[in-house]
Amino acid sequence: MTQIREAVDVLAAVRRIVFFTGAGISAESGIPTFRDKLSGLWAKHDPQRLETADAFRENPALVWGWYLWRRQQAMMAQPNAAHYSISRLAKAGWDVSVVTQNIDDLHERAGVDAVVHLHGSLLSAKCSGCHRPVALQTDQLSISKEGELVEPPRCNYCNGRTRPGVVWFRENLPGDAWLSAVRLVRTCDLLISVGTSGVVRPAADLPEMAIRANAAVIYVNLEDVSMGDEREIMLIGSAGQVLPELLTRLGVS
Ligand code: APR
Repeated sequence: MTQIREAVDVLAAVRRIVFFTGAGISAESGIPTFRDKLSGLWAKHDPQRLETADAFRENPALVWGWYLWRRQQAMMAQPNAAHYSISRLAKAGWDVSVVTQNIDDLHERAGVDAVVHLHGSLLSAKCSGCHRPVALQTDQLSISKEGELVEPPRCNYCNGRTRPGVVWFRENLPGDAWLSAVRLVRTCDLLISVGTSGVVRPAADLPEMAIRANAAVIYVNLEDVSMGDEREIMLIGSAGQVLPELLTRLGVS
């Protein structure tokens, strides 16, 4: 049986689905992935230079400017057919949850209500001193070009620098987000991993956690990222093609 026919049979037989997504699901919306050597964000920037608390301490204007630029790019992007397929499946009656490593809001804009953001969000900011959330004014968000240095605003309470509300390398995930993700994965019937290279822990442990909980796992990716377990199905292809194809075969409009 072809892998996609097997995937359709599994989908038809389950109720609780966790979609575990990475940068690859937003690639067709024009947001570069991290490890795609051709157009990936890393191709232009050294992650250790920009995505760490040390980098922010050493050069806050560079890191803050980098995130303002990424935020602006994400706000101009539109959800693609893969994002909409997930919300269509939820509307068709499946119990769908989304656990994402992405910091854009494309799942929300495609109509998915509860999204667990393991690595935070470009839309949020907090004080690097007292960690209070910071509500940014529109005029604090404008940036004209990639690479522009922008001094981060100061906190009204402790005068600390405002930082992006995202998880940097060597930082812990938000405790509530991780606990929600683990609870969802341990009680699901099926985990569908879409567009993630599965190299950054602990997020990358979720598919194996699902298998240990006797759930099925479907991967959607341009490359084979499966671990070789018999309960895994590997669908090679772009998310914007494969997910709509699954829904068509399921008869979901
Ligand atoms: N459809 C499906 N998969 C795709 C597509 C597409 N159109 N385009 C790219 N991919 C796949 C790539 O093959 C790759 O396996 O998406 C994956 C993207 O991998 P990464 O760039 O490593 O992104 P991600 O897995 O989300 O990275 C995880 O690492 O850098 C940190 O915090 C950052 O959240 C990020 C985490």
